Amino acid sequence: MRVGQAGLGNWGKNLARNFSELADLAWICDSADDRREELLARYPRARFTTDVDEMLADSSLDAIVIATPVPTHYELAKRVLEAGKHVFVEKPPAMTAGEIDELVELAERRSLVLMPGHLLLYHPGIVRLKELVDEGQLGEVLCVYGNRQNLGVIRPYENALWSLGVHDLSVILHLLDEDPVEAIALGRDFLQPGVEDVVFCYLRFPSGKIAHMHLSWLDPHKMRKMTVVGTEKMVVFDDMELERKITVYEKAPWRASDRYGEWQTRTGDISSPRIASDEPLKLECEHFLALVRGEGDRRQVAADGARVVRALEMLTDSLRGS
Ligand SMILES: NC(=O)c1ccc[n+]([C@@H]2O[C@H](COP(=O)([O-])OP(=O)(O)OC[C@H]3O[C@@H](n4cnc5c(N)ncnc54)[C@H](O)[C@@H]3O)[C@@H](O)[C@H]2O)c1
Repeated sequence: MRVGQAGLGNWGKNLARNFSELADLAWICDSADDRREELLARYPRARFTTDVDEMLADSSLDAIVIATPVPTHYELAKRVLEAGKHVFVEKPPAMTAGEIDELVELAERRSLVLMPGHLLLYHPGIVRLKELVDEGQLGEVLCVYGNRQNLGVIRPYENALWSLGVHDLSVILHLLDEDPVEAIALGRDFLQPGVEDVVFCYLRFPSGKIAHMHLSWLDPHKMRKMTVVGTEKMVVFDDMELERKITVYEKAPWRASDRYGEWQTRTGDISSPRIASDEPLKLECEHFLALVRGEGDRRQVAADGARVVRALEMLTDSLRGS
């Protein structure tokens, strides 16, 4: 499989490392021409260009990976699909529901893969969390909340919702498999006008389930945590933990039948299933290549991307007070 990649910055270099191991990374494209020598030294078999169109003109390329800044994603992904190539595009693949719907429709019409970079969905801990939810082990899921806080990295353009929230949102929507009917976001741009550093989000779903996200790069705690509260059990995914990524709490509300109406609580075992330490990024890249080969459900990944962008747009409208 011959792959080209646009954008080899801080994150893009990780994607390039994986694609150079899993496929033939035939083209590397970065608008920063002063990186030509450094990148060619790292990938001597690849061709370098600063012009995406030059790369797209190579008919032997099967797929393109996009890891450029967010505002460029939609335009570049559209050009890739129009050139008849499969595309992996870093999160979020577009900035409005209208844009993502257009990309999904284009990919569908051309029978191409449009896969957003929702890294956490390939994290073995999140895969286990989803299994626990789908197997009904938590009973009925009532609410989910995510904590993604740290001091830094302070981004100059994307706010905490778009930079950090995409990760948690992709997981929440994947776990609940519903689109929110209500989305409220409150935040403040303390450091740079118009770029919110701290954002609190509330989501309500048609089933009545609710979710919350605390997103911040102005925080003393480094937290990468997702908590799922069910009627039978409660589960915490903590990506800061080395071994205990998932903790299952046999804790639940409980009502004794002989004392009708009175709520008590039940506390049982606390356990941690073993979670494989495979690199989520490698699993994500492998999944993309499998979809390109025609394996798996390519519609699902595109639909997941669209669902996340739609919810992001709802939250952004709320944040901006519209
Ligand atoms: N999945 C994750 O966990 C994760 C983590 C970090 C970043 N990201 C995403 O990866 C993307 C890149 O982030 P980053 O931190 O690497 O940014 P970056 O600024 O470090 O790198 C972007 C690169 O793209 C190049 N570029 C810009 N416009 C271009 C164009 N039109 N054509 C070709 N090259 C172009 C720049 O020269 C730069 O080298 C963003 O969308 C970000 O949201 C994802």
